[in-house]
This record gives sequence, C-alpha cells and structure tokens, in this order.
Amino acid sequence: MSLMTMATLMALACLCLAPAVGAPATVSARRPLRDNDTLVSAQGKFELGLFTPAGSSDGRFYLGIWYKNIPGQTVVWVGNRASPLSGVASAELRVSAEDGNLELVGPTAASASPVPVWSSNLSSSSSTPGSNNTAEIRDNGNLVLLDGGNTSKVLWQSFDHPTDTLIPGAWLGENKLTGEYQVLTSWRSAQDPAPGMFTDTVDPNGTSEFFYMWNQSRTYWRSGVWTGRFFATMPEATRNILFNQTYVETPTYRRVSNALYNNATITRLVLELTGQTKQYTWVPASQNWQLFWAAPTVQCDVYALCGAFGVCDLSSQPSCRCPPGFAPASEGDWTLSDWSGGCRRSVPLWCPHNGSTTDGFLTLPNVKLPNDSDLLAVGAAQSKAECESACQNSCSCEAYTFSAGRCAVWHGELRNLQQLYADSGVSRSSDLYLRLSAIGLRDLHSSGRKGGRSSWLVRGMTLLGVVALCASVILAWRILVARRRRRLVHMANEKDKGSSLTVYSYGELQAATNNFSERLGGGGFGSVYRGVLKQQKGGNTTQVQVAVKKLESLGRQGDKQFRTEVSTLGLIQHVNLVRLLGFCSSSNEKMLVYEYMPRGSLDRYLFRAGACPSWRDRYCIMIGVARGLAYLHHGCRECIIHCDIKPENILLDEDMSPRIADFGMAKLVGRDFSRALTTMRGTIGYLAPEWISGQPISAKADVYSFGMVLFELISGRRNSERCSEVDDVAGTGRCGSSAFFPVWAAGKVLEGEVGTVADPRLRNDVVPEELERACRVACWCIQDEEAHRMTMAQVVHALEGTIHVHTPPVPRALQNLVKLT
Ligand SMILES: *[C@@H]1O[C@H](CO)[C@@H](O)[C@H](O)[C@H]1NC(C)=O
Ligand SMILES: *[C@@H]1O[C@H](CO)[C@@H](O)[C@H](O)[C@H]1NC(C)=O
Ligand SMILES: *[C@@H]1O[C@H](CO)[C@@H](O)[C@H](O)[C@H]1NC(C)=O
Ligand SMILES: *[C@@H]1O[C@H](CO)[C@@H](O)[C@H](O)[C@H]1NC(C)=O
Ligand SMILES: *[C@@H]1O[C@H](CO)[C@@H](O)[C@H](O)[C@H]1NC(C)=O
Ligand SMILES: *[C@@H]1O[C@H](CO)[C@@H](O)[C@H](O)[C@H]1NC(C)=O
Ligand SMILES: *[C@@H]1O[C@H](CO)[C@@H](O)[C@H](O)[C@H]1NC(C)=O
Ligand SMILES: *[C@@H]1O[C@H](CO)[C@@H](O)[C@H](O)[C@H]1NC(C)=O
Ligand SMILES: *[C@@H]1O[C@H](CO)[C@@H](O)[C@H](O)[C@H]1NC(C)=O
Ligand SMILES: *[C@@H]1O[C@H](CO)[C@@H](O)[C@H](O)[C@H]1NC(C)=O
Repeated sequence: MSLMTMATLMALACLCLAPAVGAPATVSARRPLRDNDTLVSAQGKFELGLFTPAGSSDGRFYLGIWYKNIPGQTVVWVGNRASPLSGVASAELRVSAEDGNLELVGPTAASASPVPVWSSNLSSSSSTPGSNNTAEIRDNGNLVLLDGGNTSKVLWQSFDHPTDTLIPGAWLGENKLTGEYQVLTSWRSAQDPAPGMFTDTVDPNGTSEFFYMWNQSRTYWRSGVWTGRFFATMPEATRNILFNQTYVETPTYRRVSNALYNNATITRLVLELTGQTKQYTWVPASQNWQLFWAAPTVQCDVYALCGAFGVCDLSSQPSCRCPPGFAPASEGDWTLSDWSGGCRRSVPLWCPHNGSTTDGFLTLPNVKLPNDSDLLAVGAAQSKAECESACQNSCSCEAYTFSAGRCAVWHGELRNLQQLYADSGVSRSSDLYLRLSAIGLRDLHSSGRKGGRSSWLVRGMTLLGVVALCASVILAWRILVARRRRRLVHMANEKDKGSSLTVYSYGELQAATNNFSERLGGGGFGSVYRGVLKQQKGGNTTQVQVAVKKLESLGRQGDKQFRTEVSTLGLIQHVNLVRLLGFCSSSNEKMLVYEYMPRGSLDRYLFRAGACPSWRDRYCIMIGVARGLAYLHHGCRECIIHCDIKPENILLDEDMSPRIADFGMAKLVGRDFSRALTTMRGTIGYLAPEWISGQPISAKADVYSFGMVLFELISGRRNSERCSEVDDVAGTGRCGSSAFFPVWAAGKVLEGEVGTVADPRLRNDVVPEELERACRVACWCIQDEEAHRMTMAQVVHALEGTIHVHTPPVPRALQNLVKLT
C-alpha cells in the first residue's frame, strides 16, 4: 500500500543520480577514501565523506553521512564527533592492514602529520588480521564493515553507533551481548557535533521505556513503556502514515526501530540542540524539511535548557534569554544555540565576610520556579522582608521567593527558570527575587532610562534607585506621549491609501500591546499578542481590541513586496474569515493587526476538559468554515490555498460564528511556508498525503484538512487520540479495535451506522440527517486521490443539504493505520 503514485516514484527515481563514474564503491585496505573523495550508496541516496559543519570556518573536518540529493547537507551520522581533523589533505578513511578495522587518520590541531582519530574499534578476535575487509555505505544510510573472508558478515555498522539522528531501518536500544547502547546524543552546538547535554536512551534497568536525560543524570521526559503497539506517551510516533515503529526484545538485543511503508519517503528523527526529538519529513514540493512531531512538545519542558540563570521563554526566539543584569557566560556559544553555559551576572555580588551587603533584588515576575531540593531551603521567615533579609544575610543566597506565607531561598546556580504567560496554566508560578549587586541594579536603571526594552520590574533598591526609576518612568511616559501625538498625524496620512488597511508604526503596536506582554498564542508564523488600539470615529475616540501577529520566518522580504502582498490580503473579506485591520512594516519587524476574537480558537472550545459544544453549534461551525474556505478557493480573484487548516486556526467570534485565521500566509512567506507549517501533537494530523509525496499542492489539500476537522467536530476529540484511551474513559465501547478514528468512522458510515460516530457526550442531541451528511462529507474530503475529494463549493452545498452525497469508500492510505493495531 503506497501513498505515492507511480508518477511521483518516477520523478523521485530521476532525482536519484547514479554514483559518478570512477567514484569508489567501497573502502578497503588497498583503496582508501582520500581527501575530498566521497562514497555514495548504490542508488545514490546517501553519501559518506569528510564534511565541515555548516557555517563554521575554523577548519574542522568530520567523517559523516548525509543525504546525497538534499540541498544543504543534512548530516545523519558523524564518526569522529569529538576529535576533528584540522584538514582534508592527507586524511584517509581506510581499512587497517593490521587488524582489519575501519579507521580515519589525518592531521589534527595537535599534529600536522596524520594520526588516527577514529576507529571501528573491533577487538582483534572478531576480525581477521591482514584481512580483505571492505566498507560500504548502503542505501538505507548504514555504513558497514564487511568481513573479507565472508562478505555477508557485518563486522561493524554505523546503525550500532548512532549520533543524534535515527533514520528508518536503524535502531535505538541495547545490545545485550556487548552491553552497548544505541543512544541519541545531541550535538553540542550548531557547529560542533561533539556530544552535547541531551541524550535519548532506553531504560538501563531493562524496561522498554526511553528516557530523555540532561547531562546523563536528570530525566526530563519519558516515552512510557511499550504497550505492544506504541509507547504510552507518544502514540503519534507509531500511529502515522509514514513508517511502522516497533519495539522488539530478543535474547541478544532490545531495540526500537522504524520501517518505512514506502522507501521513497525521506524522514529522520533528530535529538536537537533544544533537547527535543523532532521527526522531520522531506517535502519535495517545497524543498523543505517538514516538522512531523516533537517530544517534548513544549520547548521549556526540557530541563535546564538555558543553563544556570538562563530563562526559557516561549515567546522569544530562540527560547533562551538572560535576565536583566545577566549576560550569556559565553556569547559565542549562545549564538550557536549552545545555551548550556547559561548566564552570569554582569556585575558580581558584593558580600563582605561579616555579612552586611548592599546587594538588592530584582523581581522576575511570573516565572516557574526551579524545584531542585538541594538548592532550596525553606526558611522560618514570616514576612517578605524577613525572607529578603534571610537571603541577604547569606553570601551564597542567590534568590528568594515569598508566597502564600512561605519563604524559600536558593543557594547556588538556578536552573530551569521559565517565563510563564497568562494562559500557560502552570501552578508553580510566582515572582522570583533575584539577587543583584547595587551596581548591577543601578546599571539596569540607567539603561532603562535610555529606553531599554526590558519589561522587568526593579525593586528592592536604594533610595537613589527609586528616584532614578521615577525619573525614568516619567521620561519614558513623556517620550511615549510625544511619539503618540506624532504617530496620530502619521496615521492619518497613511490611512486609506489604496487599501482599507491602517499602517502602524512599531512603537504604536508596542504600546497597544503593552510591550507584547499578553501572548494569545503562536503558530508557525510567529506569536500573537493582545492589544488595544484607539480609533478616531467622527471626533470620538473608541478603543478597539486587536490581535497583533509578529511575523517570523519572513526572511529578507523587502518592504515594498510585503506591502503589496498585505494590501491584497486586506481586500479579502468574508464573514467567516478573520479580518485584517492593518499592519506594521518596520525595518526589522513585520506585524499584522487583526480583529480580536474573544472566544479564542476552536481547539480550546472543543477539546478543553468539560467543554461540550452542542450539535447545533458544531454544525454551524462546520458550515461556516466550509463557506470561508469556499470563498478563499472560489470567491477571490486568485484561488487562495490556506495550507494549514486545523482547529487552532479557526477562531470563534461572540456569536460562536467561526472565522478562519492565517489565510494568505502561504503567499506572504513564500517558499519558507512549509517550514512554518506546524503539525499538532500527534500524527500527520491534518496534512494531505500529497504534502509528503511531493506532488503539487492544490486547493484539495485544504479539503483534506477540512475533512479531518469535521471528524473532530463530530467526535469532539482529536483524531490522533487513541480510540481505546477515550473508550476506557467514556466507557462507551466505541471504535472497538482502537483504530484511527476517521478510518473507524468511515467504516461505520459505510455500514450505515453513523449514530455510533457522534460524540457520546451529545447523547441524543444530534440531528440524524445532519450527522449523516457531515460524516459522508468528512469521508469524501479525506480520500487519498485529490480527484476523489469534493470541492469546497460542493461541501457547502452538501452540508446545507442542497445536494445529496453518496456513501463514500474508506480512504485506503489511512487504512495503514488500522493494520498497525
Ligand atoms: C577539498 O575541497 C575544498 C573545497 O572545495 C578545496 O578548497 C580543497 O582544496 C580540496 N582539497 C583537496 C585536498 O582536494
Ligand atoms: C576506541 O577505543 C579507544 C580506546 O579504548 C577510545 O579512546 C575511542 O574513543 C574508541 N573509539 C570509538 C569510536 O569508540
Ligand atoms: C585477501 O585477498 C587476496 C587476493 O584475493 C588473497 O590472496 C588473500 O589471501 C586474502 N587475505 C585474507 C586474509 O583472506
Ligand atoms: C558468512 O556469514 C554469514 C553471516 O554471519 C553466515 O550466516 C554464513 O554462514 C557465513 N558463511 C560462511 C561460508 O562462513
Ligand atoms: C533502576 O533501578 C534502581 C533500583 O531499583 C533504581 O534505584 C534506579 O533509580 C532505577 N533507574 C532508573 C533509570 O529508573
Ligand atoms: C554534568 O555532570 C558531570 C558529572 O556527572 C558534572 O561534573 C558536571 O558539572 C555536570 N554539568 C553541569 C552543567 O552540571
Ligand atoms: C526498502 O528498503 C529496504 C532496505 O533497503 C529493503 O529491505 C526493502 O525491501 C525495501 N522495500 C521496498 C518496498 O522497496
Ligand atoms: C562588619 O560590618 C559592620 C557594618 O555593618 C562594621 O561596622 C564592622 O566593622 C564589620 N566587622 C568586620 C569584622 O569587618
Ligand atoms: C521538580 O518538578 C518535576 C516536574 O514538575 C518533578 O518531576 C521533579 O520530581 C521535581 N523535583 C523535585 C526535586 O521536587
Ligand atoms: C509493523 O512491523 C511489525 C514488526 O516488523 C509487523 O509485525 C507489522 O505487521 C508491521 N505493520 C504494518 C502495518 O506494516
């Protein structure tokens, strides 16, 4: 069963170039791989050779394996991770004439004459001395060393020694005979493949569970045990249409591996610098790696990502930053995404040995506190002032908190600080008072006066500090007022020039959103903040709530091009589309201003615990979204493909009427679009198969996603959730053999039993004809072949009941998922 049509397979086959004539096919004692030579697998999928990490210029070379036909050299394996060569001249990958090992020799920083830096390290007993062993790179990306006396005997293979990437066919686990583990270890930085802070390894105690660990000591994420079909906390890794994941235990090994359904699919799992594993799939249509899923899903769940005193903040990019008064311990590492060094005070604390200090405290509002018990000591202090002086009186005290009558002080480095936002729902949040020297605090105030954009409150200072702060606040306020006056004039000039959109300046949106302080959410294109804008209407000033989207991943798009594209977007107006009110195009920030939707997005409305929208509301949402999409596809001058239809992109207005958000982004962000596409936690979710197979994307891709959303509206839960889990909770006995919900539902529709498909919480509050229609439409929308799917115009008519819909077949591609169980 394949997702791809013959046409795609043929196109892919053409892409795969045959190895260049004369290039060596194997490495042996007599034929080493020298200098810049590379070894290419038989069908030209993988290439082995020396590489230098992208962007580095200090002349370090590593033995690596990468995809031959994917631009940008995506490295999947590195040999000499921690011992680079200093040049390629006289470097050699060869089979040792003495012991038959595969080894890399070459110049290093310490030695200009070639020395061995890496070896397959086979003990002499397992290989024949002076043998004719050969090494080759296979089409699955495995570098193998074969016995010269028996070429079907693999002596050593790179699949037994993964670096940070797991590719299909390779494995992670334990070799019980040798006691060796196959572990993923992140790179140290973007330019250094040496082992970093994060590892993903199978439980050394022998269970099937996988642990993600920080510094090989602290577990920050667990896969859950293998249930026989999937890992308990990550069913999405198994339950997907690309590969079949299995965990197998035999007397000699226990391991997990992924087998592709279709060998032309290119996918890889990487333990990233961020401590998350991310599954990427190559999307030929956009020439991009598409994120498939990530674990842990939330970046800041990775323990101590930002090092000592670093703050993990989901709204900043990258997620790590230093608190005010602190700076990265190593600026260089920090820019290369190695945050493990953390932050250091710009001015050291001042602590004379008899304990009287002038140090003060800086408030970090609303942070998730580190809970390392060895650092935490709950004091006897009864008030905040007592707590503060308890901290101040101890030279090693770095910070304190006082909440709910409890005083806690921290000694030593603070790790795992997280910035929280109103909607993050984490309970252990509080204000943290971080100790800073008097000079450090004073420096902060003066930089604040210069208009530093720090939003941190500064407290606990000397009288002088308070005066300085007041002065700076007044000054800042004056500047703000003056700027706003100028801006109002500016606004009046810019409004209504060609389109109905208002042009805002950066400062204006910064003020409207209270310096981007209330984050409503974020998608692939950037974060959205709540704001309030003043609008002049016939002499009266009214306040308008808005949602401001700060665009990321726009690359170096010019101002003129951006304005042109946005103006076109401004013309697209429909009652089921979120309305664009204006934009900001400053030199380094591009922002879009939308009307504010107080009820938030459909996912919150539908999936939040306790929420159960009525059938009436759900059906209205189905029709509304269908109309909005039909307008985008058929009603505009050019067909606009949304490309990212999912509940998170469907907002609800006061009347519960749905509004589609984020349309037009594909055009705005251009080629980078698929990079910005976000998949929800779990499975391929809403993406049509053609995204992966590399066929051109048409409006039918939206139809597919819409079908998936319909199923979720019908069932009231994520398609990606395992039926059995929900069954157990609801006790309804639905989708008995725990199949993927849409497939099970499609089967029921075929059997004419749509009644069982609806959300059981609705009980009898459904209109049977509407349910039948919705189920049939949903099924037709998720057909494998684009031609078999309905158009959005047909969907609208079908849901409205003006055309009749026949019984649909069960989509074949998705049936793969059923086979898994
Ligand atoms: C290897 O390739 C680099 C870049 O293409 C080139 O500068 C260098 O001279 C080559 N080295 C050898 C030994 O061929
Ligand atoms: C090979 O063994 C040596 C000595 O035991 C060790 O230093 C080196 O790291 C090993 N190399 C690999 C690739 O395992
Ligand atoms: C290696 O191959 C050569 C020629 O094929 C043969 O003479 C020699 O005996 C082989 N050596 C071993 C150890 O098998
Ligand atoms: C060659 O190696 C394979 C795999 O280890 C083994 O099954 C086979 O018996 C070997 N053949 C000979 C002739 O030793
Ligand atoms: C392994 O088992 C030992 C003893 O039961 C326990 O102390 C240890 O924490 C376990 N390790 C892991 C990683 O679960
Ligand atoms: C990581 O662990 C090692 C030893 O287990 C320790 O020496 C080192 O300080 C730890 N690193 C950090 C950043 O805590
Ligand atoms: C896919 O590749 C693997 C390993 O190269 C091979 O064993 C398998 O037969 C291939 N499957 C198909 C369907 O080509
Ligand atoms: C300790 O500090 C006090 C001021 O608080 C000072 O008067 C005293 O001389 C200091 N004692 C020593 C031993 O430094
Ligand atoms: C800290 O919190 C994490 C997650 O909330 C928990 O797993 C861990 O056990 C806690 N550690 C301590 C020392 O309380
Ligand atoms: C997945 O792999 C397992 C083990 O290799 C196999 O038993 C199962 O049939 C496979 N499932 C599918 C759907 O290919």
